[in-house]
Amino acid sequence: MDHFNYRDGVLFAEDVPLTRLADEIGTPCYVYSKTTFTRHFRAYTEALGGHPHLICYAVKANSNLAVLGLLAKLGAGFDIVSIGELERVLKAGGDPGKVVFSGVAKRRDEMVRALEVGIKCFNVESVPELERLNAVAAELGVVAPVSLRVNPDVDAGTHPYISTGLKDNKFGIAVDEALEAYALASDLPNLAIKGLDCHIGSQLTETAPFLDALERLLVLMERLRERGIEIEHLDLGGGLGVPYRDETPPQPFDYASQLLARLSRWEGGENLTLLFEPGRSIAANAGVMLTRVEFLKPGETKNFAIVDAAMNDLIRPALYQAWQMIVRVDTREARESAMYDVVGPVCETGDFLGKERELAIAANDLLAVRSAGAYGFVMASNYNSRPRPAEVMVDGDRVHVVRARETLEQLWAGEALLPDEAN
Ligand code: LLP
Repeated sequence: MDHFNYRDGVLFAEDVPLTRLADEIGTPCYVYSKTTFTRHFRAYTEALGGHPHLICYAVKANSNLAVLGLLAKLGAGFDIVSIGELERVLKAGGDPGKVVFSGVAKRRDEMVRALEVGIKCFNVESVPELERLNAVAAELGVVAPVSLRVNPDVDAGTHPYISTGLKDNKFGIAVDEALEAYALASDLPNLAIKGLDCHIGSQLTETAPFLDALERLLVLMERLRERGIEIEHLDLGGGLGVPYRDETPPQPFDYASQLLARLSRWEGGENLTLLFEPGRSIAANAGVMLTRVEFLKPGETKNFAIVDAAMNDLIRPALYQAWQMIVRVDTREARESAMYDVVGPVCETGDFLGKERELAIAANDLLAVRSAGAYGFVMASNYNSRPRPAEVMVDGDRVHVVRARETLEQLWAGEALLPDEAN
């Protein structure tokens, strides 16, 4: 459930009409709801109740400092994939002791920084990475906490670009090779084995793949136990889906209770700390992107609604053919409805936010693209030299600009002309 609702025909973010925000901040612009973020995060902590756990919000989904700061205050840990994400978490007041570091190719300097600030765990994805981490930790005279990301080879049944747990994906260590990798990790003097990790994909709409993955991990953990390697935490990655359209993904409660039920039948399961790395299910429906209709352009075979946001602002539709709901914000005036492709001003045919949408709109109307809080702004670019949009967090009737709209000067900050003699 989110806190974007119509009141008397106008879409609100909590207690603020989006029409007012668009007038004050301009478009395109991302609008987040603090209450929705809070609610979605708490759904996880409440679902896990008294079982030892840590919810490591996946920073990549929405890394605005205000979002990270809010979640840090709620007690979140963080799943990061770069030094940039680590520094953001620290800047936002996040606890490095609750950070897990994922990703297939962590650089040495990234490892050094993460060791210096004392992160909770490195999710290691290959044997060479284990060796690199051991060497870096030895140079610093410390012991690095590790978890191996195992690829359980389950089909998450999601879009091929965001399915991560299959044999032919680049991620993780094959389940059959994991025993050997753990044996190596336990022999390396500057590594301490803490956990076992997997990530099977994003936007999962069923619990079965998670349970399949858990089953395979439990078998592996038993083998490890036979070799005297005990796992303290199990990091079950794979993101619960969100309703973009008519999907009915499991709620954190269903998901957690099924996992806990299985663990309760496993020896030592009640003491095994569970880590989740949700991004989308916390952030997606906590945000919308506002955009204004520039022109309506009727065509022979199609009508176009040309809006002021484009693929550079929100790339999911262009990149994954993702469907996100597009609604008119102020519905008080009656209009004739028609079928439109909602497109942006970027010079590419792939620049669309939605296709074949029935909308009752006119030029200058304000539209909201729903479910834009995750993988929205973070994937924005400056393509076509378009400044990236502003980001706003609404809290009740208060409005906080949490990222100013980029200025034109920022577009070329850091660039330089060649010296005269070089021309
Ligand atoms: N942990 C790891 C290691 C991941 O690779 C991901 C997502 C997550 C956590 C968070 O998963 P979530 O809860 O958000 O499903 N840009 C794509 C999504 C890519 C997700 C990749 N990994 C999109 O817009 O749909």
